[in-house]
Amino acid sequence: MPEDLRVLLVGGGGREHALAWRLSLSPQVESIYVLPGNGGLALQKGKVQLISDVADRDYNAMVKRAKELGIGLVVAGVDVAVVDGIEDYFRGTGIPCFSPTKGAARIEGSKAYAKDFMQRNNIPTGEYRTFTNYEAACQYLHEVSHDVVIKASGLAAGKGVVLPKSKEEGFDALRDMLLNKTFGDSGSEVVIEEFLVGYEISILTFSDGTTFKSLPPAQDHKTVFDGDRGPNTGGMGCYSPVDMVSQELLQVIDCTILGPTFEAFRKEADPFVGCLFTGLMITETGPKVLEYNARFGDPETQALIPLLDDETDLAEVLLACTTGRLASTHVGVRFEYSACVVQASRGYPGDFPKGLPITGEYDRECTRLILVSRHRDTYEKHSSFTRRRDKHISCWHCTR
Ligand SMILES: Nc1ncnc2c1ncn2[C@@H]1O[C@H](COP(=O)(O)OP(=O)(O)O)[C@@H](O)[C@H]1O
Ligand SMILES: [Mg+2]
Repeated sequence: MPEDLRVLLVGGGGREHALAWRLSLSPQVESIYVLPGNGGLALQKGKVQLISDVADRDYNAMVKRAKELGIGLVVAGVDVAVVDGIEDYFRGTGIPCFSPTKGAARIEGSKAYAKDFMQRNNIPTGEYRTFTNYEAACQYLHEVSHDVVIKASGLAAGKGVVLPKSKEEGFDALRDMLLNKTFGDSGSEVVIEEFLVGYEISILTFSDGTTFKSLPPAQDHKTVFDGDRGPNTGGMGCYSPVDMVSQELLQVIDCTILGPTFEAFRKEADPFVGCLFTGLMITETGPKVLEYNARFGDPETQALIPLLDDETDLAEVLLACTTGRLASTHVGVRFEYSACVVQASRGYPGDFPKGLPITGEYDRECTRLILVSRHRDTYEKHSSFTRRRDKHISCWHCTR
């Protein structure tokens, strides 16, 4: 591992804030350039610098800038970069890129592809059908006897899943996605899935394509209000580990889901190099996959990164994944609990006022365990970094 590693981290969320914070603790890391970063990262200073003059999806410009800066590791945080195939742009440049290939990232970019992938490889998941035709989808919804979930197949920023309470709501969702194109091309194909009953967990797993090492299970809270009320969001908070999940259950998940998943990648797509996020429903008949993401989860990462133990060097782990050395690289966690709570403007996930100051008052005596706040899509008004993001959210994090 080089002594003066320069990292380019792509994204501007709380996830990137958590990753940059942990990478900055690695003695081998000299600097971390975050593109575009956010207001919280602008305050981080130290090893962290923001790049605000390269467009979010201009990967040729990213390669050029990475070469100019002498970058030794690229880390793709945000889903769009992973699904766009950022790894393919860096391949052959000599700069390792921690991201699955565009081919492997289809597991996130198309829920229809992901469901077929699971079915072909006997990976437990709910019953489903996929449709591009509105009439055919309505016909199926009319006939089906179980409760369903309706999903836009493409990326939809966590807003493309509808849990209809009646058939009518289901038909409305199909009309919105397939006819009214509410989600644009992302909704031109829909998955109608069996509604699964149980409790939900997320697992983040590092992989170099062959070896895989998971972090403890996390539980994300999707709805905007307390008590599981209100519309689904991109995640209002998260904690880890989850006491309900036993070691035996984790073994079942490794044997029936994670092992077969990485094997299937090797067999039929590109080996999966990066961080696989597996969303699972633990049902009465065992764990079933809800979805895969081909990158670190947000807000899971904010809760999980602080659990890494002192012997874990995140930069080394990410580099090891890109060079097939994960088996001999330490990934360990502290036996503690960690939580991340998201603070959002009133109105989120719908329309909400932007540009309000984040005061972030908290009682240091009572909540002594709160370490740091991590920003997600915010901007810092008083620094030279004035790029305005379209969200205004901060995450508070604590460990116990
Ligand atoms: N088959 C299902 N049964 C029950 N709930 C589901 C099902 N699929 C998704 N959900 C709920 O909807 C949420 C979002 O679905 P998911 O597939 O994770 O899409 P995304 O994260 O892309 O919005 C899940 O976290 C879960 O709470
Ligand atoms: Mg999800």
